[in-house]
Amino acid sequence: MKTIQIGPVAIEKTAALAPMASVADRAYRQICKRFGAAYVVGEMASSKGLCYSDRKTEELLQITPEEEPMAVQLFGDDPDYMARAAQKCMAYSPQIIDINMGCPVPKVAGNGSGCALMKNPERAAAIVESVSQAVPVPVTVKIRKGWDEQHVNAVEFAVLMEQSGAAAITVHGRTRQQMYQPYADIDIIRRVKEAVSVPVIGNGDVTDIRSCVEMYQKTGCDLVMIGRGSYGRPWVFSQIKHYLETGEVLPDPPLEERMEIMREHVKLICKYKGESAGMREARRHAGWYIKGLRGAASLRRDCGSLTTYDDLLRLAERVLSLNREEWE
Ligand SMILES: Cc1cc2nc3c(=O)[nH]c(=O)nc-3n(C[C@H](O)[C@H](O)[C@H](O)COP(=O)(O)O)c2cc1C
Repeated sequence: MKTIQIGPVAIEKTAALAPMASVADRAYRQICKRFGAAYVVGEMASSKGLCYSDRKTEELLQITPEEEPMAVQLFGDDPDYMARAAQKCMAYSPQIIDINMGCPVPKVAGNGSGCALMKNPERAAAIVESVSQAVPVPVTVKIRKGWDEQHVNAVEFAVLMEQSGAAAITVHGRTRQQMYQPYADIDIIRRVKEAVSVPVIGNGDVTDIRSCVEMYQKTGCDLVMIGRGSYGRPWVFSQIKHYLETGEVLPDPPLEERMEIMREHVKLICKYKGESAGMREARRHAGWYIKGLRGAASLRRDCGSLTTYDDLLRLAERVLSLNREEWE
């Protein structure tokens, strides 16, 4: 299997899991890793929150050795805070520190962080320089196509980030204005790849083998990153890996196995967050695992009221009994 290098970190050239705040937590990342995700990135953590030792922010940095190679991700608009926060991150032993320059939400971008940094390239460059000097691991950035269609600057911006010390650049082919609407612009990723010499990670709308191969072929990117396409189907990573290794297309796992994966995933959520908070979070994930199955509308209602792990076991049984004919 081919690998790519981000500084000293070797990563299999298959598919990576995108950072997703309040979705791709430690349990989610671990499950995706188990199914062959080549690389995972943690939920964005506030640099100021870390500098002020906010407990919730620090929790976001908790990682497990199974997740390696992994990055933690920081957001912020101040080079000094970002450097201090990055130093604090080192206590959790990430292999890479990623800087969020793509988040569109007003709470982040409205304060000059996330995608707003693409409107302020000098500030973004100062952040990359100061963070790179502060930590011994590679520093990477995750950007969008630009702020809006009138300000598409991913190519120049990526070149500046490379000059400032970025060891890899992830590009999500949408502007901030487009948020998450269809469709991501794949061509901007190709243009960034042609302009820089550090690895480029292509991201946006990859959901399966076909879209992953298309991202590799049309952009020449070094690695593909998947976010929403992994909801309730962490096996997408093993399907892609297997295809790239052998050319063979694996089907989705049988329903019984999918329910086993859901149980294992939710068990991990409860382990890390406790049953009460964990089961509230598990509702969304369970909904994704049952998507498209027979009885999904009524099963979704069951998902909405999950409060104990036993409820989840009963849900899995109900899924199997409602769908028995189809999988027997
Ligand atoms: C719920 C959610 C949370 C996200 N959180 C982050 C984040 O913390 N940091 C980040 O850089 N991008 C974040 N993103 C953006 C994704 O990493 C990714 O760029 C985007 O979803 C496009 O990829 P996809 O089409 O494969 O989902 C988030 C996206 C979603 C849907």
